[in-house]
Amino acid sequence: MKYEWKELYDQLADCRKCGLSDKRTNIVIGVGNTKSRIMFIGEGPGRDEDEQGVPFVGAAGKLLDKMLAAIDLDREKVYIANIVKCRPPNNRTPQESEAVACLPYLRAQFALLSPKIIVCLGATAAKYVYDKEVRITRDRGVWKCVKGVWIMPTYHPAALLRDESKKRDAWTDFKNIRDKLKEIQEQEQ
Ligand code: URA
Repeated sequence: MKYEWKELYDQLADCRKCGLSDKRTNIVIGVGNTKSRIMFIGEGPGRDEDEQGVPFVGAAGKLLDKMLAAIDLDREKVYIANIVKCRPPNNRTPQESEAVACLPYLRAQFALLSPKIIVCLGATAAKYVYDKEVRITRDRGVWKCVKGVWIMPTYHPAALLRDESKKRDAWTDFKNIRDKLKEIQEQEQ
């Protein structure tokens, strides 16, 4: 039988694969269009996301929504997930063991969605999805094509809230994302 979204949700419901499960309020699995050609990947849930069970609903999420809107996208058109599905205490970076424990779920999401574009939001997502040795200031905006899937790291929206000077580069990246998506949609027509 084909692996379906419901099975993924069932498996995740009771996940105790790492210590982050001890303190979670909700597992934050993903949001958006499960038929989208584009997947955005963040780091892990913060307080708001933990409370609501939905990725990117806090301040960084509001900025992400604005950036998506600027390139004619919204949560109905994209799929958004995180490297880890449970909130790290005090929003610390997920430990390697936590990310490794959680990555099979992200891989399952990827397999179910089969996107043509992956955007890694920030260094943590880029480290596990793009290149282990990534440096976000050096590598942001640089596409890599792996088995027909275009992957690009860009700044995490929280980084843009901390440092407004990064917004110009992020805008360049988002325009590139818009163009790549258009190119892919045209090829698929
Ligand atoms: N930051 C992330 O990386 N993911 C979220 O879901 C929220 C904030």
